[in-house]
Amino acid sequence: MKEILKERISNSKDLFVNLRRHFHKHPELGYQEHETAKKIAELLKEWGLEVQEGVATTGVVGVLKGNKVGRTIAIRADIDALPIKEATGLEFASQNEGVMHACSHDGHIAMCLGTAKILSEIKEHLKGNVKFIFQPAEEGPGGAEKMIEEGVLENPSVDAIIGLHIWPEIESGFVGISKGPIMAAADRYEMTIKGLGGHGAKPHLAIDPIIAASHIVTTLQSIVSRELDPLDSTVISNCSFNSGNRFNVIPEEANLSGTVRTFNPKIREEVPRRMESIISGIANSMRCKYDFKYEYYYPATINDKEFTSYFENIAKDILGQEKVFEIERPSMGAEDFSFYLEKVPGTFFFLGTKNEEKEINKPIHHPEYTIDEDILPIGVELFCSMVVDFLKE
Ligand code: NI
Repeated sequence: MKEILKERISNSKDLFVNLRRHFHKHPELGYQEHETAKKIAELLKEWGLEVQEGVATTGVVGVLKGNKVGRTIAIRADIDALPIKEATGLEFASQNEGVMHACSHDGHIAMCLGTAKILSEIKEHLKGNVKFIFQPAEEGPGGAEKMIEEGVLENPSVDAIIGLHIWPEIESGFVGISKGPIMAAADRYEMTIKGLGGHGAKPHLAIDPIIAASHIVTTLQSIVSRELDPLDSTVISNCSFNSGNRFNVIPEEANLSGTVRTFNPKIREEVPRRMESIISGIANSMRCKYDFKYEYYYPATINDKEFTSYFENIAKDILGQEKVFEIERPSMGAEDFSFYLEKVPGTFFFLGTKNEEKEINKPIHHPEYTIDEDILPIGVELFCSMVVDFLKE
């Protein structure tokens, strides 16, 4: 079976490349992936899968049933693009002005579709089902949670899930895994510090929100540096601070916002409480009022240890021991694949695409970002091999 798969996949490389280029040329933003979804659904139907469209607005789910009843494994691809003006100069560059697949989701779709195609040709060897989840809006506001609410993990109920991100910090064709956290939880906050406006020359008649907000920004940093275990990586970044618009007017209020990144769920719960206590303490002591809104966004992406070891063995078997390694550090970036991993065991891994010879070396979300298409068959082989093993008789 291993050899049959390898051969079929290497013979289909053009298909994977063409798919990737098609989606690259026609990128769509989160929850607007109408043409993308239509194309995905058409192909899945052509290959004989049961298809459900309009899941979480623009999501598509394809189910491939093997010849015998058994377990169900899911593969997820995110399908949305970014509001970036492409500058790659590629012949298949974006035709949708100001929108670009700059986060490899075009490659993710191509690999997930490629896997569906290859497996549909050998389904008589599968004992169970494969569910292909094409998910909208990973870049925000998030499509995973909505797909789960709409039952994507049920009927047939999913026993394990697998997903990947093409990763430009890893050499092309190498696979980075983690048997625990791989990406952080990403939350966000907004606050308004309200003072009393006045003349810059007469501060005693005003209440200056800028001074209070400045103390708040610096004191918030003491949560990470003085209150948390240094080995529990946490970030509090206040990323916007807007107040005032004239050199001699003390403004009425200051508006701030930022992001909080954590791995430890207890810390994730505790940080907003500590933030509010600092904000309220400083605001009160400086005669200001405040509003504070904290929104839990994506949880940390935490892989199942046992399932990841299982994946590791299969990946090493296909690619060779040296090509598969445990990443030294998880990323402080976030990924809504985390919502699936809260419900079912699975693994999310990085497939390297860095190739200096081909000058493929830009970070994701860069206007010149592109991927090494030679990795597309590798991703398909990893997915296919996992499924074949998971659903073996
Ligand atoms: Ni991405």
